[in-house]
Amino acid sequence: MSTVIEDIIARKVFNSRGEETIEIDVITTSGFGRAAAPAGKSRGKTEVAYYPQGGVDQAVKKVEEHIATELVGLNADFQEEMDRTLHEIDGSKDFRVIGGNTAFAISLASAEAAANSYGLLLFQYLGGHFAYELPYPLGNVISGGQHAHGKSPDIQEFLALPHGAESFFEAASANVQVHKKVGETLRKKDKLFSSGKSDEGAWAANIGNIEALEVMSKISEEVGGNMGFDCSIGVDVAASSLWNEKEKVYVYQKENKKRDSGEQLEFVLDLIKKYHLVYVEDPFHEEDFESFAELAKKTENCLICGDDLFTTNSERLNRGIKVHAANAIIIKVNQIGTITDSWETIEMATRNGYVPVMSHRSGDTCDWHIAHLAVAFRCPVIKTGIVEGARVAKINELIRIEEFLGDRAKMADLRKL
Ligand code: PGA
Ligand code: ZN
Repeated sequence: MSTVIEDIIARKVFNSRGEETIEIDVITTSGFGRAAAPAGKSRGKTEVAYYPQGGVDQAVKKVEEHIATELVGLNADFQEEMDRTLHEIDGSKDFRVIGGNTAFAISLASAEAAANSYGLLLFQYLGGHFAYELPYPLGNVISGGQHAHGKSPDIQEFLALPHGAESFFEAASANVQVHKKVGETLRKKDKLFSSGKSDEGAWAANIGNIEALEVMSKISEEVGGNMGFDCSIGVDVAASSLWNEKEKVYVYQKENKKRDSGEQLEFVLDLIKKYHLVYVEDPFHEEDFESFAELAKKTENCLICGDDLFTTNSERLNRGIKVHAANAIIIKVNQIGTITDSWETIEMATRNGYVPVMSHRSGDTCDWHIAHLAVAFRCPVIKTGIVEGARVAKINELIRIEEFLGDRAKMADLRKL
């Protein structure tokens, strides 16, 4: 068995939106790993740059012309060395020279090649013997904001979280039922509803924010009742997309309403209370740590989660921890570039009582790596949609991991809710 890297191959493939993206193969003496990078649409301003100038073509060229030469001969199981070398080759603070997505694909493909060389699954290799907890699936049911356009709600995502389920499979089944029943209700409510779906496979309907929450809460209660466990709901406001910096207001086009920061706080607090939300992501724009902290102080049993706020960046998370801005953080590896950087952020989050939520991107591929990362790094929640190929790829991999673990498998601890 040897984990020495013998070759690295880069190619252009497509993501679920049909955008070009980079895919990397890492070949070691005894193994093989492959990873393709996803892409966000409502990106945080402090995410790393995805590609160098010249886009995916240029990134592929850079791998072929010199990055591969620098990495061949390294051991794929020296993850920190691999990721540090990627930073050194790049030399910038935000991967603008080689591209964060290039770093992402190399970092993940190399971890998978190491696992494969040892004859292990990725989650076993990264997490060890005690990685046996399955995350709860947080699934997008109704889409709005930048993910749906047209007449959809202003809030970007209406999410289901079956946090009472005793197995991953049951939890995933509950989400599928909620998604299906919400679709049926939307069709009944609006004869013109074409059953259209967004990039993440959630319904894109002509419906208001409050109406969407009414439908979601009624149906998740129903499904929870049928299944015999708690199914709750949450939202990703993606408030940076609503924020008008000039006027200092959140613009809700569908409602024809503008809310300043104080009104936004009251609005979100009301929603949490009225609909028993257990999860609220990015309720304020990405520089408003103070309003996040106000909200976190005023709520209980609800995950207040930062996505654009933190961008998987440990320095930004540290700033948030200091002011008690939240109690959960979205982890998107390609927001920061490498597995090592993401692990450092997850570790800081866990140490400080923040729930790390492993997440897909709206433009994703059928790669299932994040399913393994969620188990390996003990993330109690994974946000990866409910239907649509790229989403189901991760859900199905978690079903396989649960089966593989057998009696040792256990759902994560979400006692916070
Ligand atoms: P994305 O956003 O489009 O940047 O992937 C999804 C999200 O805001 O969680
Ligand atoms: Zn988000």
